Amino acid sequence: MRFLYQILTAVAVVSLVAGACKKGSTKAEMRRLPEGLKVGVATAAFQIEGGWNASDKSPSIWDTYSHTPGLIKDGTDGNDTCKSYEYYQRDIKMLKFLGVDFYRFSISWPRVLPSGFANKISKDGIGYYSKLVDELLANGIEPVVTMYHWDLPQSLQDLGGWANPLIADWFEDYARVLYDALGDRVKTWITLNEPKQFLIFGYGMNRFAPNIVSPGIGDYIAVKNALMAHARAWHLYDKEYRETQKGTIGITIATDFREGASDSPADIEAGKLAMDFEVGFYSDPIFSSTGDFPERMVKRIAEKSAEQGFPRSRLPELSQEEIEFIKGTSDFFGFNHYSTKFYSPDKYTNGTFAVPSYEDDIGAVADYGGYELAPMIHTTKIPKGIRKALNWVKDKYNNPRVMITENGYGNFGGDDDLDRIDYYRAYIDAILDAIEVDGCNVETYTAWSLMDNFEWDSGLKAKFGLFEVDFEDDKRTRKARLSALWYKDLIANRALDPAEPKFEEILF
Ligand SMILES: *[C@@H]1O[C@H](CO)[C@@H](O)[C@H](O)[C@H]1NC(C)=O
Ligand SMILES: *[C@@H]1O[C@H](CO)[C@@H](O)[C@H](O)[C@H]1NC(C)=O
Ligand SMILES: *[C@@H]1O[C@H](CO)[C@@H](O)[C@H](O)[C@H]1NC(C)=O
Repeated sequence: MRFLYQILTAVAVVSLVAGACKKGSTKAEMRRLPEGLKVGVATAAFQIEGGWNASDKSPSIWDTYSHTPGLIKDGTDGNDTCKSYEYYQRDIKMLKFLGVDFYRFSISWPRVLPSGFANKISKDGIGYYSKLVDELLANGIEPVVTMYHWDLPQSLQDLGGWANPLIADWFEDYARVLYDALGDRVKTWITLNEPKQFLIFGYGMNRFAPNIVSPGIGDYIAVKNALMAHARAWHLYDKEYRETQKGTIGITIATDFREGASDSPADIEAGKLAMDFEVGFYSDPIFSSTGDFPERMVKRIAEKSAEQGFPRSRLPELSQEEIEFIKGTSDFFGFNHYSTKFYSPDKYTNGTFAVPSYEDDIGAVADYGGYELAPMIHTTKIPKGIRKALNWVKDKYNNPRVMITENGYGNFGGDDDLDRIDYYRAYIDAILDAIEVDGCNVETYTAWSLMDNFEWDSGLKAKFGLFEVDFEDDKRTRKARLSALWYKDLIANRALDPAEPKFEEILF
């Protein structure tokens, strides 16, 4: 009898705890963030600054692209966006409100170097970033700076942009300007953000600036040049600045997960090949012990190129010297992640994609595996995918330092964004599993994004912000969404779901 009573009591306690978990947990069962994990938010220059022609700034390829009628889905442009160039101090107040450890933002190359070259540094341009860095530090927020987040000076695009191997010289010159001007205070540098997105979408598809459509050729040439440019900036820092400035420098790669649609060997192999195309293309040359592009990918593109009558592979070779030069050039693995796709080669038929092209080289059809699609489809919630992607990095590259530099959810608005909270909660929980159960070496978590902004080809209509921005209002007033209050609680308590967030109107 007594025994039964104990069991009943235990059952009652368990169901009580389960109920409490659903509603918002008590202190005792909250999932705590590991000690040392830094938490922040991210933005990018073109997406938030506006001031597209302020002072002596020259146009970037995204100015050109968004000014071309028909290319941005909702017909908006990046002329003004959040007006952060004008009102950056307000952004700092919002960061302070959230309580973040760091702020990841990017620098606009044509704002700092209006000709694209390092002959003349814009006083106003570099001055803007210098003030931003100073005021972040004065507020106890660490600057994490992306040197290139897609807004190439149009003048350099006119010379071929990333398809011109001289971009490695131009980028190294630009990097030197930044280290000289800001490196005394900036201790974390990210060279390039998401090479796949600006190179494959920019030089292989008509989807992103500069809108060069050279699928399976121009995009691959640009990838090699971008890897060389990244490595040049890293070596420059390593040789001439590291000792005095004592910072850390790496690259950020979009590390969405790819896997087979089923357990069939063909699907599994297609998933691995797709992961090589999606991530390994950029990460293997830098992080693997052998260097160079992934073997599977080199073989596939060489075979297809031969079938298609090309005298050599469309994928440029890396010489032994280039392999050695690129290998090891990142102090950490900058990891962006949004979702997972599932691949099957069986359903693939000729004519699905252009020949040649990146997708045709993969040669498989992909979908989101029946998961409920997010409004911004590429942020469809599949949290176990981030754990798998973190483990892929850990297993392949000997458990490097990982900085999660972006993760977030896109919809079409509303301040009661329970869907966004639900996404963040599930992904952070999966990341904690990767850290605590699997031993992945994750140092930062970064939410994308601080506020709604210009979401590239989707324009202003797509919403990723913890803060909502009123784009009709000349001042671009910001309002904290429920997710901002939830994230603030997460940071303050260093735990998942310390309390049910309650909406209150907070404006900046
Ligand atoms: C900047 O761009 C805006 C919007 O296109 C335009 O109205 C304004 O005249 C431009 N300013 C300068 C100084 O060119
Ligand atoms: C942005 O600037 C371009 C170039 O001056 C201009 O054509 C466009 O109308 C501007 N957009 C808005 C919303 O004012
Ligand atoms: C698809 O095209 C390739 C050449 O690019 C050819 O070898 C193959 O037989 C074609 N497959 C089908 C099913 O037509």
